[in-house]
Amino acid sequence: PIGLINGKLIDLNETIVPMEDRGHQFGDGVYEVTRVYNGRCFALKLHVDRLYRSLRELTIPAVYTYDELAEFHDLLIKESGIADGAIYLQITRGFSPRAHGFPENVVPCLTMSIRPAGAAPDKNKLEGAKGLLIPDERWLRCDIKSLNLLGNVMGKQKAKEAGCFEGIQVRDGFVTEGTSSNFFVIKDGVAWTHPRSNLILTGVTRTLIVEKIAPDLGVPVIEKRFDEAFAKAATEAFISGTNSEIVPIVALSGQPVGTGSVGPVTRNIQQAYWAMVD
Ligand code: PDD
Repeated sequence: PIGLINGKLIDLNETIVPMEDRGHQFGDGVYEVTRVYNGRCFALKLHVDRLYRSLRELTIPAVYTYDELAEFHDLLIKESGIADGAIYLQITRGFSPRAHGFPENVVPCLTMSIRPAGAAPDKNKLEGAKGLLIPDERWLRCDIKSLNLLGNVMGKQKAKEAGCFEGIQVRDGFVTEGTSSNFFVIKDGVAWTHPRSNLILTGVTRTLIVEKIAPDLGVPVIEKRFDEAFAKAATEAFISGTNSEIVPIVALSGQPVGTGSVGPVTRNIQQAYWAMVD
């Protein structure tokens, strides 16, 4: 498997990142995951814009231009020969002896890798998957795509152990998002999702649904918080994300959502998304 460190090709099995990389020791860094379809990176501009925002919020200097980052993505696709895959990119604050405060005179470290990802939709996407409502135990800056993912990891594991595909997180009674996805419900033909705030990551997939797919399909979207009871009473539900694309959620904490099978609005949104990435 191949990757890049600061734009240079490396073998993932051989290369070692310095132990005092702040990403290792503090989770002090940010990341993006981008999908590759038919040999091309999908929605790269939106991902890089969000990356720059995450860097700004953490005061990590941006040392690569959009064009350079696009070139690195293309290089990984070309060198690996992977036409359908996912590219992982992370930038840490850099290497420095361990101390909490920001070090001076360090250069951020960019690492990237590419892996194949299924070109064909799996069973979850086609038939729907189960969600588990879980407490949102993350910090209060979920809008930053930071490397600190322990809350997300613990939540996903809780869902997995309950036989569910995704944990749907609830904070102060209101449904925020999945552990690695955004969450939508459909009620009376209207799509509801948590508003952009510090409590969720504004997903690229979410943005495409809210700004393009739903309006094109004539599905009204309300970006407004809703509670657990509202979610359970919805007629349809789904999660969205770069890896998940659109996964219908047909059961929530053991209760069927609507009819308990994939609903028409979700299916239309899913198909419109696939048409967009194709
Ligand atoms: N996760 N919310 C959270 C907490 C996420 O981790 C993600 C994506 C999303 C969806 O964002 P997008 O549509 O831009 O992929 C929402 C990535 C894929 C991951 O951690 O692997």
